[in-house]
Amino acid sequence: MFAADEPRQRVNRHVNRVSTGLKSRNRRPATWLRSLYRWLPDHVDARVRLIGWLSLAGQLLLVASGGAVRLTGSGLGCPTWPKCTADSLTTTPEMGIHGIIEFGNRMLTFVLTIIVILAFLFVMRMRAKRPDLFWLTFWLGMSIPVQAVVGGFTVLFRLNPYMVGVHFVLSIVLTIVTTVLVCRIHTTPSARVLAVPPWFAWAAWIMAAFAMITVLVGILTTGSGPHAGDADTLRTGFDTEFMEHIHALPAYITAGFTLLLVGASIGLAVGPVRRFLALLVVVEVLQIGVGLLQANTGLPGILVGTHMVLSALLMSAVTAVLVNLTQPVEAPEGATSRTSGAVASTSA
Ligand code: HEM
Repeated sequence: MFAADEPRQRVNRHVNRVSTGLKSRNRRPATWLRSLYRWLPDHVDARVRLIGWLSLAGQLLLVASGGAVRLTGSGLGCPTWPKCTADSLTTTPEMGIHGIIEFGNRMLTFVLTIIVILAFLFVMRMRAKRPDLFWLTFWLGMSIPVQAVVGGFTVLFRLNPYMVGVHFVLSIVLTIVTTVLVCRIHTTPSARVLAVPPWFAWAAWIMAAFAMITVLVGILTTGSGPHAGDADTLRTGFDTEFMEHIHALPAYITAGFTLLLVGASIGLAVGPVRRFLALLVVVEVLQIGVGLLQANTGLPGILVGTHMVLSALLMSAVTAVLVNLTQPVEAPEGATSRTSGAVASTSA
């Protein structure tokens, strides 16, 4: 009897082994995902802060590399999109240095994509207590394909200056959103109160509106200027010198309002916004200096590129000023006195 049962038992043992093996193999990815999820931050830590700053650096780098494409005349270094040439996804030796520059700019989008995906993953576990960070990284992630498609259309429209302008405006908007993300990472999630007198907040918003107008008119100025991105590209046809004057006017008004805010902040309890106003003044002085210099020296590429990156940096500083017009009711650790001062100044 024992001998007759032996083959059946062996089969049963084998079936058991196989099914146990399958179960553990099925369980393995779930366990792996669970450990990965547990490794993700459940509160804002150094990893979240780092990825926030990397996202902002990535946006600024993209503005710089877009500038390099336009200013080296490499706008059509890859003459088509999404492929680089009709037959190749990547640049080919025939496309020369222009192909390398334009393709490098396209590749940077992938680096930024990885950074933004990481940022999204890093705040996923804390989405219940930090929905602000969750949605900011979500929309940043969603914006990347949009920006890539706008970039693609810019090529397909043979660098039409209005399309190039839309591409740049989108970069500025993304820089603004990323700055909000960095600011929110560095603050507590509680309700916020105005940290400055209402008239001060109004003046800051007017300053920001003029900064945005300056950027938009600046883009139109560029559209009429010599740096088209390719020798045969259409221009807007506006008079460049006239556009320069129209562009500089809101720039000076922005600077005027900024100085007013800096002056007023000296005698007022305005919280951390003072620090960002100081940063803004520095960027504005540099930006206006570079703007005047480039306009009076025949628009050398290096100055025009610097002016582009500084405009993104300037809008980032403007955003930081706006975000810091309010402060959390619940003070971040070690900042109790500052917040209570701000609340006091609001109620005053
Ligand atoms: C708040 C200060 C300023 C900001 C935020 C700003 C921003 C900008 C922006 C965003 C562009 C378009 C860049 C592009 O599309 O590639 C631009 C172009 C330009 N800006 Fe400004 N600008 C400022 C001040 C000035 C000043 C004071 C001048 C002096 C006249 C100036 C002269 C120019 C010129 C000549 C261009 C066209 C460059 C080209 O043809 O490519 N900017 N500016």
